[in-house]
Amino acid sequence: VNEIYLDNSATTRPYPEVVGLAARVMSDIYGNPSSMHDLGLAAGQVLAEARRQVASVLNVNDKEIIFTSGGTEANSMAVIGAARRNRNRGDHLITTVVEHSSVLNCFRCLEQEGFRVDYLAVDSRGVIDPEALRALVNEKTTLVSIMHANNETGSLQPLAEAGRIIKELNRSAIFHIDAVQSFARLPLKTKEWQADLITCSSHKIHGPRGVGCLWVNRGVQLEPLLYGGGQEKGLRPGTENTPAIAGFGLAAEMTAQGQDSKVAQLMALKLALIGGLHDRDIHFKINGPDPAEGAPHILNLSFPGVKAEVLLHSLEAKGIYVSAGSACHSRRPEPSHVLESIGLEEKLLKSALRFSFSSMNCETEADRAAAGVAEAVRELQNM
Ligand SMILES: Cc1ncc(COP(=O)(O)O)c(C=O)c1O
Repeated sequence: VNEIYLDNSATTRPYPEVVGLAARVMSDIYGNPSSMHDLGLAAGQVLAEARRQVASVLNVNDKEIIFTSGGTEANSMAVIGAARRNRNRGDHLITTVVEHSSVLNCFRCLEQEGFRVDYLAVDSRGVIDPEALRALVNEKTTLVSIMHANNETGSLQPLAEAGRIIKELNRSAIFHIDAVQSFARLPLKTKEWQADLITCSSHKIHGPRGVGCLWVNRGVQLEPLLYGGGQEKGLRPGTENTPAIAGFGLAAEMTAQGQDSKVAQLMALKLALIGGLHDRDIHFKINGPDPAEGAPHILNLSFPGVKAEVLLHSLEAKGIYVSAGSACHSRRPEPSHVLESIGLEEKLLKSALRFSFSSMNCETEADRAAAGVAEAVRELQNM
């Protein structure tokens, strides 16, 4: 294929090994893991192996992994489940203005139920101020939810500091982290962050879509969103999606393999794209953190005077695939709440594109993308 796929924060191409495994499990190991015969047992072993793989990447106990239908469900399970279950202890919740809609909309829902929610602001790099968090945590705070890597700008939040502050001020406040963009791609310092709940998704790491997990620390109580059988400790009842879960486990293991060198590779790709645009005298602005500080695979750029959607389609015609704003928000061309919250002016908001890399990309692609963007920007500026 000649296409250059730079939309890996929206979703990734599955590893062929993952596709092979999922297909094999679907056709051959089709038993219900709850069945008592050997077909059920075999399916149960598939689940156990995937749980082991995911837990090992997170460096946690297998028993603490709850498989879900993806990041969205894991975020709902964490935020709504923790708030409702612990309401007798308090009604105060804290999150940030840059969370993914699957977190933000849970908090909006909880506000309707009478919870009080504080939304932490971010600076121009998209990063929260830990001291602002310190000013908010109190004895009524039951849950704090802060993402790791932002899906639009790649900003990384100071989670270790946040964890320290939260636990210092209220030992029983639950700390949830949406790590959908960083799981297996970056080291997750679960212990150092003093995290209680971590959300992961499979399709961002070359696994099947429609599967993910929530890591639930020992002792953390959640109210389930679904009621049924006792699967996944009763938190996620329903017959398990074994083919997808098997693929997720393998994808997690494969993505995390050689993590350090992949991080270096992704950072090099990002810098190659920036360098390639500079070499071609293209006028652009980097949105969010300094490229060396943010997540290695995400780069958000504005091209003043060029409409993002037009540029996106012009690049598509050249076989280069990127996002305008955040693709997770479907196709509505509304200004991004993340870019607004880092204080981007209208002109830059409307011309912002997100380039997101994976280890399947190479430097030639980054350079060809820079050439394509330069050509497209020039064409559009001359129109
Ligand atoms: C930061 C973040 N959280 C949550 C999600 C939702 O994950 P999923 O697509 O698996 O529901 C996404 C992407 O869609 C994301 O980027």
